[in-house]
Amino acid sequence: MAAGLLPGRSVRERLLALPSIDAFIEVAKASGKTGVLDEAMLDELLAVTPTTPVVARTIAPIAEPDPKPAPRKHDLAHYNLSDFPMQAKDVDAEISVHFDITGKSVTEGKKEDIQSFFNDRLKQVKRLILDRNLPNRPIAVNEALRRKRQLVDRDNQFTIIGLVNEPKTTKNGHLMFTIEDSTGEVRCLLSQRDEGGPNQQIVHAGLMDDDVIGVSGNFNQSGELIYVDDIHFPPLNKHQRRRAGEDQAVSAAFISDLHLGSKTFLAPQWEKMIQWFHTDPLAQTVRYLVISGDGVDGVGIYPGQDKHLDITDLFNQYSKLGQMLQELPDWVEVLLLPGNHDAVRPAEPQPAIDPELQTDYNNTLFVGNPCDFSLHGVRVLSYHGVSIMDFVSSLRTVTFETPEAAMRAMIDRRHLAPSWGGKTPLSPEPEDRLVIQEIPDIFVTGHVHGHHIENYKGVNLVHSSTWQDQTDYQRMLGFQPKPCILTIVNLHTHATAAIPFV
Ligand SMILES: [Fe+2]
Ligand SMILES: [Fe+2]
Repeated sequence: MAAGLLPGRSVRERLLALPSIDAFIEVAKASGKTGVLDEAMLDELLAVTPTTPVVARTIAPIAEPDPKPAPRKHDLAHYNLSDFPMQAKDVDAEISVHFDITGKSVTEGKKEDIQSFFNDRLKQVKRLILDRNLPNRPIAVNEALRRKRQLVDRDNQFTIIGLVNEPKTTKNGHLMFTIEDSTGEVRCLLSQRDEGGPNQQIVHAGLMDDDVIGVSGNFNQSGELIYVDDIHFPPLNKHQRRRAGEDQAVSAAFISDLHLGSKTFLAPQWEKMIQWFHTDPLAQTVRYLVISGDGVDGVGIYPGQDKHLDITDLFNQYSKLGQMLQELPDWVEVLLLPGNHDAVRPAEPQPAIDPELQTDYNNTLFVGNPCDFSLHGVRVLSYHGVSIMDFVSSLRTVTFETPEAAMRAMIDRRHLAPSWGGKTPLSPEPEDRLVIQEIPDIFVTGHVHGHHIENYKGVNLVHSSTWQDQTDYQRMLGFQPKPCILTIVNLHTHATAAIPFV
């Protein structure tokens, strides 16, 4: 009865004959069997019941229960250690930087610079759009305007490629904008319909100022605007990710926005991560740590910032950060980008932080923002992410809670920060290097203090987590950050793991 069993008449004699019932009860309990105890079950259970007198009442179960992983904080998915097969210290570092503006900025910010910046953007993205099957060969805007009488006819659909200006939604829900190339400018209207499809997604989401797109359609009767049938972004079929070789299957980890120096920097959680780096088996696979900007909180970044600072001297902030990074195990190589809180020009692309501020670092490669680099052949595009704010204010599909939607939009239009004159200061370099020339295998941003990992059309999107607690400003906006999560990507398997330290 103690084991949930009802002994049948036939087995009672045999039970009473046992030298001790305790051992049998323990075995019966562990077996999980309940109900009527008949001869067959008794034989089965006695076969595994110890015959020597039981000293302790704890007996090993017959079958090991299946191990169930404990629930993880943040509801982050479990990872499998076998996806992270290689020890970082067994593999030499292999970093090649493809783009970093440091020391290469040439603009004087003159009108001609701005012109050549946009002409270059148009040229680059146009070339990408031409890679797709367009319904007809694109013509220049002035040619379209010259032939507009003829191009009213639905049989004469035409295509132009240019920069978007002033996109807005009309009272009736249509999308209105102008398209400009080096020859002229023309108004366009993409109408709202019920049929769904990619065009209607664009009508719903909207466009960014200074996007480069292709437009196919016809002029209206009066010839003053184009009725758009189709909008063309550069094509992106499923991207085939590059992998590090099997003998170089190490991992890269991603964080950003430490905001060291602010009172809200989460120091105990940082200590916890350093501990983890020295003790956890997964940490031993991490060869690189990429910090995508805002490593320090900076000084004089916004009015009244000094009230929120713990370390009020900029040199001390960078020095402390260097010391903290030195606590990482020596198999970890750090790549440090600047963000809008760092002591470099805010205009993007931003150069690496000044060599004078780099003195207390021994394991860190200082790069600009954005930085396009490869780790063992895996192409990584790291961008701090200030333009996410412009995506939030321009596209209905993007919110501060979903920075990954901005990242998808960047990949789709092959540009990190299209809008001039928005919240992202842009440096008008003769070549627009905020164009995503090469599809990355890993695309990482920060700035918004969220956290997200997904595979978008074959690209690993990582929105890296902050090490700063909710600020007063964020509380006022009702924004809840997702701090202290280390994102890890294996460069061979492309498996990801997210490790929370709160
Ligand atoms: Fe930040
Ligand atoms: Fe930032």
